[in-house]
Amino acid sequence: MSSQAVRLVVLVSGSGTNLQALLDAVADETYGASVVAVGADRDGVEGLARARRAGVPTFVERVADHPTREDWDRALAAHIAAYRPDLVVCAGFMRILGKPTLEAFPVLNTHPALLPSFPGAHGVRDALSYGVRVTGCTVMLADAGVDTGPIIAQEAVPVLDDDDEAALHERIKSVERHLLVDTVGRMAREGWTVTGRTVRFGRPGG
Ligand code: GRF
Repeated sequence: MSSQAVRLVVLVSGSGTNLQALLDAVADETYGASVVAVGADRDGVEGLARARRAGVPTFVERVADHPTREDWDRALAAHIAAYRPDLVVCAGFMRILGKPTLEAFPVLNTHPALLPSFPGAHGVRDALSYGVRVTGCTVMLADAGVDTGPIIAQEAVPVLDDDDEAALHERIKSVERHLLVDTVGRMAREGWTVTGRTVRFGRPGG
């Protein structure tokens, strides 16, 4: 890992294929980022196993282990802060982050629908039952809402006649992994600016 590399903490809740795409990308020094830790809100998920296989430190912060949600927010933020990230990436992390994390770090999130359509935990199912012919994926900056932050990148995926939720989600995820890797890499190498809801690559004044 290069000493110049942007430090990423990646948060997961599930299979971690988006995390794996990032782990594969950071193996190339020219990518500009390194994964310094992987955190999860639950034990035993494949995302954590992927991190361990890659030799990346992991941590778990379960909501149920804290008396209040605010205590969990603070504990999670402290755990993240211990790894001094430049950017936090939610890669299939199924929790809304609280202020302690959102105010301390820039946070990126990925969603399997074309926002602002179909936010929330069932973006693929909701798009399918609405009957859209095109859906896709969105990479955004996270804010306190549910998938409401400024959009950085999107890519469309057609809905096929015989799609079910699983088939459509798998097709979206293969596009989503590339979009996430591309977006994180550009943010790491080029920096970014946020003006209102508009996110642009490049450093301020650059
Ligand atoms: C992704 O589609 C993500 O957008 C959604 O859950 C999926 C996570 O997949 N929230 P994986 O754990 O990276 O395989």
